Amino acid sequence: MGRIPKMQDLLAPFAARLKERKEDDRLRCLKTVTPGASAAVFLNGRELVNFASNDYLGLSTHPSLKARAISFTQRWGVGSSASRLVCGNIDAYDTIEKKLAKLKGTEAALVFASGYQANSTVLGTLSGDGSLLALDRLSHNSLLSGAQLSRCRFLRFKHNDLADLEQQLSRPALHKYTSRWVVSESIFSMDGDSADIDALCRLSANSGSGLYLDEAHATGVFGRHGMGLTAGRKEVTVAMGTFGKGLGSFGAYIACSETLRDYLINFCPGLIYSTALPPAVLGAIDAALDIIPSMDRQREYLLDMAEGLRVRLKSCGFDTGNSCSQIIPILVGSDKLALELARHLEAAGIFAPAIRTPTVPANAARVRISLSAHHTKEQIDHLIKTLSNWHEN
Ligand SMILES: Cc1ncc(COP(=O)(O)O)c(C=O)c1O
Repeated sequence: MGRIPKMQDLLAPFAARLKERKEDDRLRCLKTVTPGASAAVFLNGRELVNFASNDYLGLSTHPSLKARAISFTQRWGVGSSASRLVCGNIDAYDTIEKKLAKLKGTEAALVFASGYQANSTVLGTLSGDGSLLALDRLSHNSLLSGAQLSRCRFLRFKHNDLADLEQQLSRPALHKYTSRWVVSESIFSMDGDSADIDALCRLSANSGSGLYLDEAHATGVFGRHGMGLTAGRKEVTVAMGTFGKGLGSFGAYIACSETLRDYLINFCPGLIYSTALPPAVLGAIDAALDIIPSMDRQREYLLDMAEGLRVRLKSCGFDTGNSCSQIIPILVGSDKLALELARHLEAAGIFAPAIRTPTVPANAARVRISLSAHHTKEQIDHLIKTLSNWHEN
């Protein structure tokens, strides 16, 4: 037997990669924050206006969600004790999934522990050796992981470019793949732009593909009852949505047919081999689903504020890409500039993170502004003033 490697030999490549990241100004570090009231956050003891959160409607602190989380905890305890298939499937799941299916207009719904878990395991469960997955190039990492884990053939089409998708799907070499899925997001997480859902539905139907859409950032904000752009659309085979962003708490769901739901319960490892959500989280989800349909006023305020901000940023010369949602990227190009801009904002009491490679493509670094219905007009004015100061420097 050869020399047994020492622990430092095993760790050396990790340390080298971290050093490389640091030298490239791309080292990620966890920041400890303390949430404050009305879109505020405390960082190193300093209060900042938070433009980084996905809590688009401010539901994470809503009294009804908190009250139901507490009441579910009092009734069922803090843990679910097992996976849903063993004994973790408390009756709240049934109520929640019925509400979800009704709101989404689908036959059925299935709750998962997180969006990452759903995307990374459902795609592989629905596809196999003879399957083809076609993913938008800017699809979230969880969708990419799902495609990679599935071990089926997958291709990536240019972002929101359905001519490219159509052309790739029609390649003769791919004709043998009869089980096909087109995978995209309804609102993209880092660009805040939207997929053309009508066109995706048409193209999927014409190419005999299932359509899988991630609604993580549309849920709560867009569509019928605020339940995403796929709500009520029968042509969408599978819609994934999350509870951890616009719905204020944690977890995710798949909205689909009864058959697919049964199939996932039987074959999806992310559901079968993972502990069910804790009762407190189910309580918060249950309450959010009751409130969300009645929040049109907050959605209108949020989306009007986003439109107003985009117009003012563009007039100051900022590039906000194709954003049409509450997510507004300020595209600056290099990682260095994005970091500089984030630091400039922080100095003025604004928390908005620099998003760099590998989260976004090279030279597409940005500061991501994420709006909430809790932001005030004064906070937006301060943001614009601070940004225009930076531009003038
Ligand atoms: C588009 C998209 N899909 C899925 C996820 C994962 O969802 P979760 O945070 O519930 O794991 C995220 C999270 O950031 C996301 O942005």
